[in-house]
Amino acid sequence: MRSVIDILDLSTDEIGGLIAVAEDIIANPAKYENVCRCKKLATLFFEPSTRTRMSFEAAMYELGGHVISMTDGASSSASKGESVSDTAKIVSFYADIIAMRHPKEGAALVAAKSASVPVVNAGDGGHCHPTQTLADLLTIHREKGGFSGLTVGLCGDLKFGRTVHSLVGALSRYEDIKFVLISPDELRLPDYVKDDVLDRKSIPYKETSSLDDAMGELDVLYMTRVQRERFFNEEDYLRLKDCYILTPEKLRGAKSDMAILHPLPRVNEISVAVDDDPRACYFRQAANGKYMRMALIMMLLGLHA
Ligand code: CP
Repeated sequence: MRSVIDILDLSTDEIGGLIAVAEDIIANPAKYENVCRCKKLATLFFEPSTRTRMSFEAAMYELGGHVISMTDGASSSASKGESVSDTAKIVSFYADIIAMRHPKEGAALVAAKSASVPVVNAGDGGHCHPTQTLADLLTIHREKGGFSGLTVGLCGDLKFGRTVHSLVGALSRYEDIKFVLISPDELRLPDYVKDDVLDRKSIPYKETSSLDDAMGELDVLYMTRVQRERFFNEEDYLRLKDCYILTPEKLRGAKSDMAILHPLPRVNEISVAVDDDPRACYFRQAANGKYMRMALIMMLLGLHA
């Protein structure tokens, strides 16, 4: 029995295997429609979600399985004080696999320690979001043909953006990757990611507050939302929320084949005028999430088409 709490719980070989399965699902969906027959997924979401919860649920349905769902903590016995640990232990009696999102860093690990079925971290506070990273990796692989040699710009809220933390960890395992970290001073990538991942592996990176200066060298631009729900005061959020807005004018200096990603939801950090640009991959990226979650569910349940 194996859980996925951090993207680094999966080796690069396993990620390569998940990408291959996801590509096969995209090409041959009918082959997979009964793989999870009689299996149940429980989605336990203590924080709002559109893409992650619904794509997990769609993934299980498209594999022929069933879903039981808790869409917010207020409608569960968590509101009466039940612990994450007890909740995970109980839900293990009802489901074969659990996907859990929680506002507290480390909550998914706590759940995995008491659950008797695999737990997948669907986002724990500002910490990690490994299945978003799987969606990001499939998207980069499909758009750029691989990972090695890419210069990846990460732009916006690099402090609280859990998708950024997971993506930096995942991409740092490929050859000749470079990062450009684009943020205001207050929202820089946390030191624990810079020290433990980038510096420890001698991955080249630079920090800048200017998206315009960085634009021309990027193969991938990963935009992020300023995470209002993680700020301690509204004034700071209001001051920083519009620090980067990607527009067609800003893209004039970009490479013609740069891939623009965003984990979504967006607020206004990418103008809707960018959506028709062929370099805008963020809607394809959301679709890709379902296929990678299908591949991951199969892997964790030990099932094959
Ligand atoms: N990208 C992402 O995690 O979206 P949701 O919050 O809608 O699940």
